[in-house]
Amino acid sequence: MKTNISLLPYHTFGAKVNADFFTTFSNKEELTTILDQKPNDQNFIILGGGSNILFTKDFHGLIIKNEISGFEVISEDDHHITLKIGAGENWHDTVMQTVEKGWQGIENLALIPGTVGASPIQNIGAYGVEVKDVIQKVEFYHFDKKETFEYSNQECAFGYRNSIFKNELKGKIAVLSITIQLNKNWNFNTSYGAIEDEIENQGIENLTPLDLANVIIKIRESKLPDPNEIGNCGSFFKNPVLPKEDALKIIEKHPDAPHYIVGEEAIKIPAGWLIQTAGWKGKSLGNVGTYPKQALVLVNNGGATGEEAWALALQIQKDVKSQFGISIEPEVNIL
Ligand code: FAD
Ligand code: EPU
Repeated sequence: MKTNISLLPYHTFGAKVNADFFTTFSNKEELTTILDQKPNDQNFIILGGGSNILFTKDFHGLIIKNEISGFEVISEDDHHITLKIGAGENWHDTVMQTVEKGWQGIENLALIPGTVGASPIQNIGAYGVEVKDVIQKVEFYHFDKKETFEYSNQECAFGYRNSIFKNELKGKIAVLSITIQLNKNWNFNTSYGAIEDEIENQGIENLTPLDLANVIIKIRESKLPDPNEIGNCGSFFKNPVLPKEDALKIIEKHPDAPHYIVGEEAIKIPAGWLIQTAGWKGKSLGNVGTYPKQALVLVNNGGATGEEAWALALQIQKDVKSQFGISIEPEVNIL
C-alpha cells in the first residue's frame, strides 16, 4: 500500500492530484483481502487506465488499481472463437492481439485507451461498433454481497455509453473478466464516416481485420489528441439523443447540423458540433481548451487542474443550453 501518491501516471488528463492511499490487485483473492483489511468507512474506487476520469481534487481515500491479466481461448469452431480476457489487460493491445490472429469483431475499437475491465462499464464504442456487440459475459465481484457473478450480455443492460454498471451497480462491483465472441468469417462494419475513403486511399483490396484496425488508427490519430502528448479524457460529453421534434427544430434552423436517426422517435446530434457552433472550438479558458480538431475533447494545454477543466465544461454546458436548449451530459467520470 502506498500513501500520499501522485496520480499523474495513473490518469490521462494530467492533473496534478494525489491520493491518500493506492494499491493494486492481480486476482480476486488480492482484491477481497484489500477490501477486508480497509477501514469500513474508507472511500475507494476501482481504477483502470484513468482515461475516463477527471480528478478535480485530491482523492481522499483508497485507489485500487486493477491489474488482472489473462487471455484465454474458451472455445473455438470453424466460425467463431470465444475468449476470456482479464480485466486489467490493456484494451488496445487486446484488439491488436485479436486482429493479428485474423479474428474479426473489435477492430473498429482499436486505439481506445484504458483497460478491458472498463470496456463494459460505459459500453465503449467507436466507428459503428460497441463492445456490447461481442460481449457474452461479464464476470464481476460484488463488494456488499461478497460474491462473484457472471452476467449475460442482456443482464448488463447495455445502451449508448451506458450499462447496469453505470446505474444500479455503480461503485458496487469490480469487473474481473469479460468473455467475448469473435468471428473467423469476417463481417466488417465500414459504414461510419471516413472509413471507406481511407480504405480506398490506402489502396486496400482484400480487407483483413488488421487492415481495418490500422485504418481506424489512422483516422483516430488525425482527429484525437494522443494522451501521452496532450492530456485529455476523450469525448468529455455524450452525444445528446433528442426527441425527434426537438432535433428537427435545430436541423430546420441549421440545415448543416450532422445528425443520426435513433429508432422512430429520437435523433442524435453530435455534441462536438453543438460545442463548435456555440463558438468553443479551439478556444481556451485558463489552461484548458477544446481540441482544435475535435471540440468534444477538452485538452490540458499544460499545467491545468481538473478543477479548471470542470469550470470550462460547465461554461460550455451553459452556452450550449442557452443557444440550443439542450443539456449535454458529461461522459467522463468526475471525481
Ligand atoms: P478508468 O478511467 O480507469 O475508469 C472509468 C470508470 O470505470 C471509473 O468509474 C472506474 O471506477 C470504473 N472502472 C474501471 N475499471 C473497472 C473495473 N475493473 N471494475 C469496475 N469499475 C471499473 N471511449 C469510447 O467509448 N470510445 C472511444 O472512441 C474513446 N476514445 C477515447 C480517446 C481518448 C484519447 C481517451 C483519453 C479516452 C477515450 N475513450 C473512449 C474513453 C475511455 O478510453 C474509455 O471509457 C475506457 O473504457 C476507460 O478505460 P479505463 O481503464 O481508463 O477506465
Ligand atoms: N463535429 C463537428 N465539430 C467538432 C467535432 C465533431 O462538427 O468539433 C461533427 C463531425 O463533423 C461529425 C460529427 O460531429 O459530423 C461526429 O464527429 P466524430 O465522427 O468525430 O464523432 P463524435 O460523435 O464526436 C463519437 C464518440 C467517440 C468515438 C467517435 C467515433 C461519443 C461521445 N463520442 O464522437 O468516442 O471515437 O464517435 O465513433 O459518442 C469517447 O467516447 O471518448 C470517444 C472519443
